[in-house]
Amino acid sequence: MQSIATALQGKRILVTGHTGFTGSWASIWLSQIGAAVMGVGLKPNTEPNLFDEAKIGDLVESKFVDIRDYSALAETFSDFKPELVLHLAAQPLVRLSYREPRETFDVNCQGTANVLEAARQTSSVKAILCITTDKVYKNNEWDRGYVEEDELGGRDPYSASKSAAEIVIASYKASFSDSRPDLKIAVARGGNIVGGGDWSEDRLIPDFIRASVSGAPMKIRYPQATRPWQHVLALVEGYLTLLSGLVSPDADKFARPFNLGPMETTEYSVGAVLELLSNQIEDVDLILEEGNQLHEAGKLALDSTLASEIFGWKPRWSTEEVIRQTACWYKSFYAGQASARELCIEQIDSWKNS
Ligand SMILES: NC(=O)c1ccc[n+]([C@@H]2O[C@H](COP(=O)([O-])OP(=O)(O)OC[C@H]3O[C@@H](n4cnc5c(N)ncnc54)[C@H](O)[C@@H]3O)[C@@H](O)[C@H]2O)c1
Repeated sequence: MQSIATALQGKRILVTGHTGFTGSWASIWLSQIGAAVMGVGLKPNTEPNLFDEAKIGDLVESKFVDIRDYSALAETFSDFKPELVLHLAAQPLVRLSYREPRETFDVNCQGTANVLEAARQTSSVKAILCITTDKVYKNNEWDRGYVEEDELGGRDPYSASKSAAEIVIASYKASFSDSRPDLKIAVARGGNIVGGGDWSEDRLIPDFIRASVSGAPMKIRYPQATRPWQHVLALVEGYLTLLSGLVSPDADKFARPFNLGPMETTEYSVGAVLELLSNQIEDVDLILEEGNQLHEAGKLALDSTLASEIFGWKPRWSTEEVIRQTACWYKSFYAGQASARELCIEQIDSWKNS
């Protein structure tokens, strides 16, 4: 298989959600290898945010378009004429999905249908990779990792909306492969993503960083819960490798769902990750939040054997290294040692050389 750089250099790639955390890292990696990127997303809604800090708008073509607005989306597709689509845009927060279930279903489910339809109507598009999540599986609190054939489900609105998006994606594949045999559709289901430049609400590491910066104590909700913790670069590398596969002669092998989870068998709980973080960034007071908690899955692990067998995907850093690199990113950023973009580029280079 060709390298990501060889396969994607010069390709016209439309990235939805480029104003977000993963989208910003993906935009930097793609522009480094000379892809022609058009980003579509909403204006960032946190202060600070990676899109502004890393000046992504200066790096890639950028349009503020709501994926629920089909005509604006379709116009962008028809003007830009992408060859590939990386669909990241979503309402990705579990706790917000309890407060805003309609919006979550609208963006994640109908928004995905809009992106698929715009891709189907644009003959230049040869492949689309839709990003869902490990939370699409019906959670049985199993010890074993979920495999791609396991039943989909989703109890909270976020998980259900992503699972519903998978049904929409499968329907597009089944219904339109005869009329658009040249349009390949793949799905990536990743685990909990961490890395520098995430300032989203209600996420473990951003909450920890905010507490460290403000001096306020941090509330912990589920210290025993285990998650597949992964560096954003593990996922971005997986997404770009999948896109490369989708434009290769073996494209059909890649046009399906893949789990992208950590390879380690050691499971890290929220408490264990906080301990690793506290070794790097001191002086954050942690307090356990009691009572009346929203349901979140306890155990959640992914089996990524298929991605490893089909395209040799493997995260390059251990969980301990992921947390160390993430803490370093924030420490350097707040110490003003380098710009957010420089820090991302440095970590992309060090990731590639690991
Ligand atoms: N962060 C994680 O731990 C994690 C884990 C698994 C899967 N994912 C998935 O990865 C993707 C990226 O997640 P992230 O953490 O970078 O999220 P993020 O919140 O940082 O970014 C989300 C992006 O989607 C865009 N967006 C939201 N609503 C939109 C709308 N109506 N129209 C257009 N754009 C819209 C935002 O503007 C932003 O650019 C999502 O699909 C998410 O579900 C994330």
